[in-house]
Amino acid sequence: MDGLAAVVEDALGRVVAVSGSQVLMLMAPRVAAAASGTKVSLYLGALIKMRTAVSTVFGVVTGLSVPKPELEGQQAELKFVEIELVGEVVQTTSGRSRFRRGVAIFPGLGESGFAATPDDLALVYACPNVAASRIGTIHQARTLPLLVMTDELLGKHFAVLGNTGTGKSCAVALILHAILAKHKNGHVVLLDMHNEYAQSFRDKAEVLNLGNFELPYWLFNFEEIEEILLAGSRERQAESALLAELILLAKQAYIADPKAAKMITVDTPVPYRLGDVDRMLDDAAGKLEKTREAGLYSRLKAKLTSLRSDPRFAFMFPALAVRDNMQSILSKLFRIPVRNKPVSIVDLSSVPSEILNVVVSVLCRMTFDFALWSERSVPMLLVCEEAHRYCPADQRLGFEPAKRALSRIAKEGRKYGVALCVVSQRPSELAPEVLSQCNTIFALRLSNAADQDFLRGALRESALGLLEFLPSLGNAEAIAMGEGVPVPARLCFDELPANYRPMSGTANFSSAWTNDVDNANFLNSIIERWRRAGR
Ligand SMILES: Nc1ncnc2c1ncn2[C@@H]1O[C@H](COP(=O)(O)OP(=O)(O)OP(=O)(O)O)[C@@H](O)[C@H]1O
Ligand SMILES: [Mg+2]
Repeated sequence: MDGLAAVVEDALGRVVAVSGSQVLMLMAPRVAAAASGTKVSLYLGALIKMRTAVSTVFGVVTGLSVPKPELEGQQAELKFVEIELVGEVVQTTSGRSRFRRGVAIFPGLGESGFAATPDDLALVYACPNVAASRIGTIHQARTLPLLVMTDELLGKHFAVLGNTGTGKSCAVALILHAILAKHKNGHVVLLDMHNEYAQSFRDKAEVLNLGNFELPYWLFNFEEIEEILLAGSRERQAESALLAELILLAKQAYIADPKAAKMITVDTPVPYRLGDVDRMLDDAAGKLEKTREAGLYSRLKAKLTSLRSDPRFAFMFPALAVRDNMQSILSKLFRIPVRNKPVSIVDLSSVPSEILNVVVSVLCRMTFDFALWSERSVPMLLVCEEAHRYCPADQRLGFEPAKRALSRIAKEGRKYGVALCVVSQRPSELAPEVLSQCNTIFALRLSNAADQDFLRGALRESALGLLEFLPSLGNAEAIAMGEGVPVPARLCFDELPANYRPMSGTANFSSAWTNDVDNANFLNSIIERWRRAGR
């Protein structure tokens, strides 16, 4: 294949500097002269090959420059090509050529660089012989598919990053559809902030929202219930100690077996009756009468009562008597059994914003705990849309337990079979410990300098040069890098058919502003939904 038997006259230039994974090539005079013409294979993103004693090294053009431009009519200029090395082709013992990522032997100074042939491109971007799914094509060779390797992609987490409207949600839908087409019994939990994915997955997904899914209060751990009940309280410490004690007693009272009751803690996910907590509060307040502590008891009781009667929190307090339905909740949420619906879309759009973080925390923690106790028997993917909202870099924002739950999945999830897909338009606002654990990154257009810098900091060096493309990528284009793709590449996502796109299209002002909205029912239906806080 290697075409390096080609005569040196075909060379595009020669290597004049090598450092790390970067190579600087000086353009050959003949090529430089024609560089303004059309037939030159040197453009940003082009694949270049160079020879070493034992291999053929490949790199992507990430920069073209003329350090000292000459005025017209004067001497020829020096033209430089910056190349990011991506991998090498070596001969296997059976005599076949095989591409592998990373470079063991670097090209020497003076070595010639050549344009990659179509055969080279096919060899470099080919997927190793593992489970893989097509998600798009290679930018510089639109006939070549780009495949993601399922186990590498999911095994070590991935991130989809990019400005708003660049195609992140479509990319997530595309990747999931591609993988699920081949693995029908997947288990995907998708945290959907804007209720946009239901129409993309249709009959492949169970959509869970506040109307059809309950997350009973007894599934919350103490930190979470405390955050909901006591956030902003002036006497939080005293109230919290009392609440912890009462919840533990109520949990023990629910469990008939005294031996089992001794084993549980305040965080164990077993049901308890709020009525029991109320009664204990009343009894204690009665005994203490008008002392200062009595006020503490009655305040806590008032908070519990007002929480229970608040319709926004109805999903925590099922209408039926307390019962242990953890099995049916886990079955619905984690798709066990799958029954042809491998995705559960948790519609968080109508969750009150003040407790969104707590709900996310409960879901992430449950996902991790489930994986832990199921001992990897059901590998799971957790997709976190708008992850910067509940997993922010800023210590003062967000809810610590939600961040902790996500960080734990990011750090330890691989060992327990929980994969994370982090989606964000502001990578620089995302907790760095989460992004740095994502071993595959799809970076769509990112124009904010802070976000670009942040991404540079989070990446391994070998793909850094490719990030130069970030501000200029088109919609539905991305730089794909990391372990889930055969080689770092500029990729064009396949077009997602209109009926599979998430419901996130930009409002069409020009057509909407053509017609008047003259219909009394229109506003009434909006007001009704608003008051019911449901869609
Ligand atoms: N692969 C694709 N196939 C078809 N259409 C696409 C694709 N990628 C993007 N689009 C188009 O771009 C629009 C915006 O894409 P998308 O909603 O995925 O952006 P986003 O990055 O998730 O935006 P936001 O940050 O606001 O959530 C879509 O409505 C769709 O019309
Ligand atoms: Mg989106």
